[in-house]
Amino acid sequence: MPDGLVVGLLGHGTVGAGVVRLLREHADQIAVRAGVPMRLGPVAVRDLARHSGAGLPRLTDDPRAVVAAEDVDVVVEVMGGVDPARALVTSALQRGCSVVTANKALIARHGAQLRALAAASGARLEYEAAVAGGVPIIKPLRESLAGDRVRRVLGILNGTTNYILTRMSEDAGSFADALADAQRLGYAEADPSADVEGHDAAQKAAILASLAFDATVTDADVYREGITGVTTTDIAHAARMGYVVKLLAIAEQADGRVGARVHPALVPASHPLAAVRDAYNAVFVEGEAAGSLMFYGRGAGAMPTASAVVGDLVTVARALLAGEAPPKTLLRARAEPAQVPVADVATAVVQAYVLLDVADEPGVLAAVAGAFGERSVSIRSVWQEGRGETAQLLLITHATLEGDLRATLDRLRTLPTVRDVASVLRVEGGEA
Ligand SMILES: NC(=O)c1ccc[n+]([C@@H]2O[C@H](COP(=O)([O-])OP(=O)(O)OC[C@H]3O[C@@H](n4cnc5c(N)ncnc54)[C@H](OP(=O)(O)O)[C@@H]3O)[C@@H](O)[C@H]2O)c1
Repeated sequence: MPDGLVVGLLGHGTVGAGVVRLLREHADQIAVRAGVPMRLGPVAVRDLARHSGAGLPRLTDDPRAVVAAEDVDVVVEVMGGVDPARALVTSALQRGCSVVTANKALIARHGAQLRALAAASGARLEYEAAVAGGVPIIKPLRESLAGDRVRRVLGILNGTTNYILTRMSEDAGSFADALADAQRLGYAEADPSADVEGHDAAQKAAILASLAFDATVTDADVYREGITGVTTTDIAHAARMGYVVKLLAIAEQADGRVGARVHPALVPASHPLAAVRDAYNAVFVEGEAAGSLMFYGRGAGAMPTASAVVGDLVTVARALLAGEAPPKTLLRARAEPAQVPVADVATAVVQAYVLLDVADEPGVLAAVAGAFGERSVSIRSVWQEGRGETAQLLLITHATLEGDLRATLDRLRTLPTVRDVASVLRVEGGEA
């Protein structure tokens, strides 16, 4: 990098355009902090005409040319998707060129292999923007908390679903109305399934679980439930009992195994995560030595995400200037995280909210309590409301194994007096 660090950009969409803007508008400050000026090199897009007015002198529709360009010192991958991003990032790392990416799908699926490639070639692979957009959580977990032992990570990692649940909770509107509102504001895609079914949060949960526990967890290992089954009735019941419903991504370690799950959960209104409203993200980390920490902010959007990407560029620039050659043991540790096994979700310790439609007749409560008792799932509180022929029975359990909870639900479904298991939500973050 004779007269500056040359940045090759794969993608000039929402995030890519934000990165270009920051590199231009904050150029002087970035040069001071990185120790070297940054220069924009080739930029790859699909549709050249659409970007022709953006003042990008080295615009191309061939992303391989960006990765292969001899003067490029670092590649920023903000094109999204697994393919062809995976091959492009692989080829950059293989030739020793560091990569900064915001691509959660890529890191959640192939992070371990890519980290190994980076370690082998001495390049750096940075992905701060991949988990919570502008909220720093990768560096805190990897660096600031490196001396601690993380017990659990609880995250609100998807702004779309948090917006929808906030609207349902504050306006008492339906899921469909809140989704339509999110789509109108541009928070939700026309096809919202990646968000509302929890896929996006599961990818981020896999990345956090891998980092927090030195494990290899992919999105396929993450147990996942979305928010499409959450009703205004659930939210109203939760509020009456002092809880707020949130889509949580949970990474935890117990008995030498790592677990990762994404599902809606009741969170006590007094918990810091309950105050995370609208499209905001937050990551709540429980450290053995540091105690509880919360990282909060905008989990998406051009400029917040670009801020994280450019922060990573500064990290790469400093490492290149320092001629960083990490000790071999460190390289090995980075490349081959201890193979901590992934836990079956049935072994997770959970507390549950269970809403049942039951016949409004004597003996129902005893039959229901019996089904819970068969699996030693103890009930913390019960609330019943008669409605003539039928009644609703709401139960909150004490902590139990997810496997025992499921067996209890199966048993409840066989009881003649139980018309429907209307809702099952976990309860996280302590007592309300
Ligand atoms: N948007 C956010 O708020 C946000 C937040 C955190 C992380 N991220 C992640 O950041 C990445 C980028 O997201 P984004 O919202 O910026 O996406 P986007 O707006 O769709 O932009 C993607 C860019 O990549 C280009 N591109 C895609 N495939 C290409 C190919 N095969 N060859 C050449 N160029 C190609 C597109 O070119 P054209 O413009 O010509 O179509 C476009 O410029 C994703 O991995 C996403 O998950 C996004």
